[in-house]
Amino acid sequence: MAADERYRNKTILAPMVRAGQLPLRLLSLDYGADLVYTEEIVDMKMTQCTRTVNDKLQTIDFGFPGDDPVLRICPSKERDKIVFQMGTNDADRALQVAKFVENDVGSIDVNMGCPKPFSIHCGMGAALLTQLDKATQILTTLVQGSKIPITCKVRLLDTLPETLHMVKELEKCGISAIGVHGRTRDERPQHPNRNEEIREVVRALSIPVIANGGSSIIHTYDDIAKFRSATGCDSVMIARRALSTPSIFRKEGILPMEEEIRNFLHFAIDYEAPFTNAKYVLQRILGGEQEFDPRGRATVRAVNVEELCAAWNMTEKFQEVKNSQSRATLKRKV
Ligand code: FNR
Repeated sequence: MAADERYRNKTILAPMVRAGQLPLRLLSLDYGADLVYTEEIVDMKMTQCTRTVNDKLQTIDFGFPGDDPVLRICPSKERDKIVFQMGTNDADRALQVAKFVENDVGSIDVNMGCPKPFSIHCGMGAALLTQLDKATQILTTLVQGSKIPITCKVRLLDTLPETLHMVKELEKCGISAIGVHGRTRDERPQHPNRNEEIREVVRALSIPVIANGGSSIIHTYDDIAKFRSATGCDSVMIARRALSTPSIFRKEGILPMEEEIRNFLHFAIDYEAPFTNAKYVLQRILGGEQEFDPRGRATVRAVNVEELCAAWNMTEKFQEVKNSQSRATLKRKV
């Protein structure tokens, strides 16, 4: 497949720190997402990780011995569909990380949109939008040095001419696509997404443009197509709605909250999701129901995955997987 075909007419799970780990990615793929981004992982952290083949779970784990994995990938289910998102401010280090992960992921994205002080102060995320030389150096180095497609995800600049200048310079680096969140660095989700400006970006570039920022107006599967046509984009990337309602990716329609949670927990149990990740995603799916639904209150009180499962009547599944995994471990030891 030509690199840019990978990004044509796709519906995509956006990168989300704390949320975009294996269970939500697999659930989104199961529901119909075409591509799934990892949460942003900072290059420095990644350079310190060890890569391990996890025979028990059939995953590839990057991390530190004894800790929850920094990145867990399930090659049989997501190998070509996973986009590794990197936070970086340094071309050489970015390439080092790209070489480290390129056999395990489908493509690599550089985060140039994060407005959080942590990213900006380190010269990462949205700081790169105003350091175009650095940004283009990183992307060119990655495109030339890595064997898989490279993309970046940006926000808009204060004026349209500035935005168009920036995206054209980024396109010249040889990237395969660009994700555009239709807000500026200082705008927040309550500000309207500038769909018309995304449309102008589409007109100015020849690579696929991935529209982002539409969650406030995406309530059903059909709304995804509406957002696509409002922005004139090839592809759409969804964050907040995919977190509160992962089944937004289902052509057949969204599912009731309880089903959504139980489907998520299946993957969380099967792939030993870290408790913090599982609880966070459950709380985002629950939204206001954390207070009103007794199972929501039990979710808030839970201190481990077993208790999360108990809250949703999934103790049996939890025990079943635990027992079969310990049997498998015993067998390997014999
Ligand atoms: C984000 N966003 C984000 N962006 C990014 O490039 N890397 C990241 O790791 C994260 N992390 C993250 C966590 C959470 C919990 C949220 C809600 C958002 C931003 C996200 O990908 C997206 O650009 C915005 O949320 C706008 O898209 P939606 O939400 O309107 O679809």
